This record gives sequence, C-alpha cells and structure tokens, in this order.
Amino acid sequence: MTKDNTLPIGVFDSGMGGLTVLAALKRALPQEDFLYLGDTARLPYGTKSPKTVRRYAAQATQLLVDQGIKSLVIACNTASAYALQHLEQVFAPLPVYGVVEAGAQAAVTAAGSSGIWVVATESTIASGAYQGALTSLAPRLAVYGRAAPLWVTLAEQGGQTSEFEGAVLRHALGGFEASGANTLLLGCTHFPVFRDALAALLPSKTVIVDSAQTTALAVAQGLISARLNRAHGAGRVTYFATDGETRFRRVGGYFLGAAIDQVTLVDL
Ligand code: DGL
Repeated sequence: MTKDNTLPIGVFDSGMGGLTVLAALKRALPQEDFLYLGDTARLPYGTKSPKTVRRYAAQATQLLVDQGIKSLVIACNTASAYALQHLEQVFAPLPVYGVVEAGAQAAVTAAGSSGIWVVATESTIASGAYQGALTSLAPRLAVYGRAAPLWVTLAEQGGQTSEFEGAVLRHALGGFEASGANTLLLGCTHFPVFRDALAALLPSKTVIVDSAQTTALAVAQGLISARLNRAHGAGRVTYFATDGETRFRRVGGYFLGAAIDQVTLVDL
C-alpha cells in the first residue's frame, strides 16, 4: 500500500446510519476527502450471523480499497463487533477504525461510577463486544445490554413522524431507571437521530453518548501519527450505495444533516 496522504478515507455502513459518523469525521477533518459506501441492498447487518457480516464487510472494504483509500472507518457497530480484526488482517497494512472501542471510551468517560445502558442491534448485543470493551475499561461498572432492532426500522423512515415512535423507543428502555444507570450508550450508528426524543423520555440527569465524535478523534490522531493527514484540501465526499439512490439522497440527508446531491449505485 502506498502512503499517499492525498487519498480519501473510506467509510462504510450497512446503510445510511453511518452518515452520523461521517458527519463527525467531516467536522473533525474538513480538509480530508471521503468515500462513503452504504450497503443498502443488504441492510440490516444487525440480524445476520457473524460469518455473513464478515463477508459483507470484506466485500464493502474491497470496493473502497479498489477505489484507493488511505484508511478505513467501519461506521457500523455490527460490522465493527464482528469484522474489525478480520478486516485488519485481510487488508493489512491499511489502518482500520471501528466504532465500538470509541463508543465504549465515550460512555466510560461520561458514566463515572454509575451504570451504562447499551442499546444496539441484536447481533452487536449478542457479540458481547460492547460489554467486553466497557468492562475492560472499567471492570466494576454495571453494563446492561438491550437489543433494539425496531429502532433501526424506525430510523430508516427518515424522520417521518410515527405515532408508534414513543412506544418503540420506550420498549428498549424498560428497567433503565430501576437499574441505576445514568448513561445511555447508542451502540448503533442509526440511533443518534433519536437523541432529542430519548432525552425527553429519560430522567434529566441521563447522559446520552454515541461513538461518532470519539471515532473521529481516533481517526484524526491515527492519521497524524501515520503522517497520512492532509494540511489542505477541498473536503469532498463521494457516495456509493448498493440500492436505491433516490432514497439514499432523501433519507441519507436526514442522517447526515446536510444535502446529498449525487449517489453512485454499485454492486458488491
Ligand atoms: N449500522 C448498523 C449498526 O450500527 C445498524 C443497522 C443494521 O442492522 O444494519 O449496527
């Protein structure tokens, strides 16, 4: 692999949720170019087996590597939980960043000595990746994991209001107050869009954290220490999706918080 700092940073997710991570990356690294791939044809990853998630993740990475990237961000918790080490091995020496470690770091910093409530996909919770990352950072901390697959479906509505939203969100929070947790960790890149709705449902002292900012910080530090960062640049983003360009532009804009003008359809 050539050490070319002018190359873009590759980012992929199972769909559009990873755009919440891209938004933080763009803020932290405005001079960098990005390639974003959403594997919308095969979403959700969060109900798939580890083997399938690893295969999908490797195919997504290969497409980005073929385009030319200097580092990779797995902007999907499920893929980070199951495929980080696999991608590091297969694509070495490409620097690969997942979102689980970064999310765990953000939560431990926020939680102090209170418990952490993790909401994520079925597969992320089943992998134990967050539980492991959190307890290795803070061994005595109480960690509660809840699968919230319906939150992914709700988020994919792209901000259309639903009379069921409150009930769906509350479902994965049952027992939160009684547990004594004070931190809600959004362990899925789709979930930051619910930040305000969740804050309204939870006790006012609750801290809500996600992995976007801490991931962006880790990538920025990694680029500098590998001398791969750019001092100047236009900060362009090129978007790829495996299905539904029109929907990607519309719903993706909701996750990114900015308009998406052009999406190229690709096959994996
Ligand atoms: N992006 C996935 C994650 O962060 C959620 C959507 C899915 O299940 O594919 O785990």
